[in-house]
Amino acid sequence: MDALITLLPGDGIGPEVIASAKRVLDQVAAHSGHKFKFTEQLFGGAAIDATGQPLPDDTYTSCINSDAVLLGAVGGPKWSDPNATVRPEQGLLKIRADLGVFANLRPVKIIPELAKASPLKDELLSGVDMVVVRELTGGIYFGEKTRTETTATDLCTYHTHEVERIVRIAARLANDRSGKLCSVDKANVLETSRLWRSVTDRLMQEEFPHISLETLLVDAAAMHLLSRPADFDVIVTENMFGDILTDEASMLAGSLGMLPSASLGETSLGLYEPIHGSAPDIAGQGIANPCGTIASAALLLRYSLSLHEEADLIERAIEAAIISGARTADIAADGDKVLTTEQMTDAVIACLS
Ligand code: IPM
Ligand code: MG
Repeated sequence: MDALITLLPGDGIGPEVIASAKRVLDQVAAHSGHKFKFTEQLFGGAAIDATGQPLPDDTYTSCINSDAVLLGAVGGPKWSDPNATVRPEQGLLKIRADLGVFANLRPVKIIPELAKASPLKDELLSGVDMVVVRELTGGIYFGEKTRTETTATDLCTYHTHEVERIVRIAARLANDRSGKLCSVDKANVLETSRLWRSVTDRLMQEEFPHISLETLLVDAAAMHLLSRPADFDVIVTENMFGDILTDEASMLAGSLGMLPSASLGETSLGLYEPIHGSAPDIAGQGIANPCGTIASAALLLRYSLSLHEEADLIERAIEAAIISGARTADIAADGDKVLTTEQMTDAVIACLS
């Protein structure tokens, strides 16, 4: 198949990890006979520097004319003045909203060989394999904001249809996996969470009566993720809770650098990005972990291009590289040889077969 992929490297380590994922995709294309065409576009702080806008029109046009979008990371100290009116992160929220990718899938799967890289005890980690489904285009991220000298507000709004469509996606995913769904809210305090809970309960009863539904308050969920992580299968939650819980869950997998994500909407055009940020402290040094972005490229093949075998191939190659001992600094234990971003990418490519 022929596919056009827009690359948005962004800022910090973004360009480094995107270059790695592109190398892996080129290799998969060479193996499989598919043709992936790439177009690289300005995004985030880099786009602010060049055009004054974090999501220039040309970038957006390229995205909507593509089959899929692969994004690195945005932000950095250069653009984080609290008084700035234009920020890289605005571009990220805008592209998520404008592409209508309301469902953010964040799989967290443990590679047993990386248990040592996690601060949690080995025995808690065995069997951890979950997907957090984060609502991505609503809630407090997108509500009206106000600010005076002494007061600030962020409005959190959810509509029934926004809850229904994300819960449906999560329930279908649970149906294809173990048949267990956990919905996370803060219904003892927030009105939006009470709506979330009542819509979820009704929809699950009407449309997915065979799926077992557990409901947790977000503070308890944060604790249960550490005390019994292997019990979870699919977790569905609103935008900000999903942001926070997935950074927490990444420590189960050993490092934020390992986790991919897929953001999906009503069409096959998806947005794929690692869950980590731009890591300005290590940018430009060639030492970032490319695995989260390479794994995001695998999700791109699976969800936007329906290339399931090729997606599995990449995921198996990451696992095989780790099993063979390949480690970037973030996942290395004492005594391990530490690889650069490029060497880690070589190790993954060597395992593609
Ligand atoms: C993420 C990030 C973003 C978010 C930031 C960079 C705006 O933390 O994708 O998890 O909060 O959604
Ligand atoms: Mg985050």
